[in-house]
Amino acid sequence: MKSRVTAFCLVAALVGGVMAQDPTVPAVPTGTPIPGDYNGPYRPQVHFTPPQHFMNDPNGMFLDANGTYHLYYQYNPTAVVAGNQHWGHATSRDLYHWINQPIALFPPTSDSGVFSGSAVVDVNNTSGFFPDQDNGVVAIYTLNTPTAQVQEISYSLDGGYTFTAFAGNPVIDIGSTQFRDPKVIWYEDHWVMVVALSQDFAVAIYTSPDLKTWSHASDFSHRGLLGLQYECPNLVKLPMEGSEDDIYVLTISINPGAPLGGSITEYFPGSFNGTHFTAVDEAARIADFAKDNYAGQFFYGTPDGEDAVSIAWASNWQYTQVVPTAQEGWRSAMSLPRRNRLANITRIGWDLISLPYDLRPVLGQQLASRTDVVNSTLEVDYSGVASNAVYFEANVTGLAGVGSASTLNFIIRNPETGESVRGGYFFGDQFFVDRGGVRGFDNPFFTDKFSTSSLLRPDGTWTLSGVVDRSILEVFVDRGTTSATALFFPTQPLTVLTLSTAQLPDSVSVSVAVYALESGWKGSENGEGVVVGNVTTTAM
Ligand SMILES: *[C@@H]1O[C@H](CO)[C@@H](O)[C@H](O)[C@H]1NC(C)=O
Ligand SMILES: *[C@@H]1O[C@H](CO)[C@@H](O)[C@H](O)[C@H]1NC(C)=O
Ligand SMILES: *[C@@H]1O[C@H](CO)[C@@H](O)[C@H](O)[C@H]1NC(C)=O
Ligand SMILES: *[C@@H]1O[C@H](CO)[C@@H](O)[C@H](O)[C@H]1NC(C)=O
Ligand SMILES: *[C@@H]1O[C@H](CO)[C@@H](O)[C@H](O)[C@H]1NC(C)=O
Ligand SMILES: *[C@@H]1O[C@H](CO)[C@@H](O)[C@H](O)[C@H]1NC(C)=O
Ligand SMILES: *[C@@H]1O[C@H](CO)[C@@H](O)[C@H](O)[C@H]1NC(C)=O
Ligand SMILES: *[C@@H]1O[C@H](CO)[C@@H](O)[C@H](O)[C@H]1NC(C)=O
Repeated sequence: MKSRVTAFCLVAALVGGVMAQDPTVPAVPTGTPIPGDYNGPYRPQVHFTPPQHFMNDPNGMFLDANGTYHLYYQYNPTAVVAGNQHWGHATSRDLYHWINQPIALFPPTSDSGVFSGSAVVDVNNTSGFFPDQDNGVVAIYTLNTPTAQVQEISYSLDGGYTFTAFAGNPVIDIGSTQFRDPKVIWYEDHWVMVVALSQDFAVAIYTSPDLKTWSHASDFSHRGLLGLQYECPNLVKLPMEGSEDDIYVLTISINPGAPLGGSITEYFPGSFNGTHFTAVDEAARIADFAKDNYAGQFFYGTPDGEDAVSIAWASNWQYTQVVPTAQEGWRSAMSLPRRNRLANITRIGWDLISLPYDLRPVLGQQLASRTDVVNSTLEVDYSGVASNAVYFEANVTGLAGVGSASTLNFIIRNPETGESVRGGYFFGDQFFVDRGGVRGFDNPFFTDKFSTSSLLRPDGTWTLSGVVDRSILEVFVDRGTTSATALFFPTQPLTVLTLSTAQLPDSVSVSVAVYALESGWKGSENGEGVVVGNVTTTAM
């Protein structure tokens, strides 16, 4: 362990040394990725985390024509708290094995920040930036300065690795200090931007033929939960189960002021005609019922008609800058990549269905599989799993008419310290998650118990799946009709998973499986245990 830390500092020093100018200001490396030690006990292994320092919103997400996913992220490369905002960058072929790339966007001055935004592939050269290529990338983001928030663009001739700022920036300036997070999509024959007028509680819709000139088309305002600000809107076309029609969904992240405190994301199904979004009804809907799922973004460029793919920031502004992962030199994870569609569910109607994106690239050995967990318990000791990460699922049938005296519970614990995270379902009634049984972090806003109402389907079936990844739990209830993303910080790693059921009538069958997950990082470590990232372009 000690030698690993030494080697890691050496690499960091080398990188810093290449760039160092003013010795009082920590250097931000250009042209070379920041190295990361992904071995800390809180470091998720199948969730993306930055190599070092502080990360927040996912940005610029797009899938290129070669099948590489690009994830950019709000990044402070010099501290483990927010500030000094850059766009970090990582790429992946499968959304679980990531390659850290050099920082992609840098603020032009020391008092400005490159805030959240999106990216598109300008295949038709509508921008005119791309003389001889169909893989030009344009990033559209907010430049934050002490006096304004304006929308700017930068273009990339090399597929999204390096960018040049447009000489005509800003492309939208309305004289506001609360105007941010542009997300751009292509609609038939023009570009469409949704952008938050944060403290006016409005999502403005702009259109453009060329990504440079933008016209204000409409506003969607004062809908759903307001909190104190709207942020990070997305407009995305999703398939609807059992229907040929594609439905547009507008998501709005609100912070602060979520019902459980801090940050949360709400969504509105509706229709979009190129300039105006019309919600199907006046309801506010929330997909995730815990507190660590914010600012989610959908990948640009995934195939039309298929589930849209999203990644969210798995944290909450109430406590993100004080969580104990700083002792490992980093803060904040992204959520699992999720595939998303809409379905019509019992009583509620329109509902966002979110499930983990195909986990097979990191799915390891099956640790247990049983088809008869009725009024009984399955215990799996996964202390031998190198990643300390597991996936579990349960399928339940024969539930028609079953009431809330019948239960399914899971507990993930450390047998030595007695710490645990747990959750469970009172059938046909309520599902809960409780992270209050671990002791590595105490904070008044780190709410420890969450619950949601969950009805049974008429066919009497129900499912649960979950990923436990060192310091983050995600559960997917009833085929993804609702989900929870919850951070947890035990003093020692959790190593035993127990699934149990009780009071089930004879009609009910329960089948359960538990799998080890394989680290998405292990294969890219060097001999010193450091993930160096894509150094092919460095002068080192
Ligand atoms: C796809 O990969 C090929 C070969 O590596 C490269 O020439 C091409 O530019 C890439 N295309 C995109 C869209 O990145
Ligand atoms: C590119 O041009 C084709 C042909 O005109 C059009 O169908 C398509 O929508 C355009 N796409 C983008 C992203 O410009
Ligand atoms: C892209 O647009 C620029 C500016 O209009 C133009 O000079 C260039 O020829 C275009 N390239 C292609 C391949 O259309
Ligand atoms: C889009 O919807 C708005 C509001 O209903 C309407 O005013 C506008 O004319 C519509 N545009 C098109 C192209 O249908
Ligand atoms: C959902 O299904 C119910 C029952 O079939 C139907 O009444 C309702 O209109 C549907 N809602 C949507 C949004 O499709
Ligand atoms: C499970 O418990 C319930 C309630 O105690 C009982 O009715 C049922 O027969 C039990 N099922 C099995 C398979 O033991
Ligand atoms: C649960 O059901 C899904 C979908 O049918 C299936 O792929 C999976 O193997 C089942 N898992 C268990 C543990 O029965
Ligand atoms: C490394 O970065 C270069 C651009 O600087 C890019 O072309 C190449 O595809 C990247 N390689 C990997 C493995 O990400």
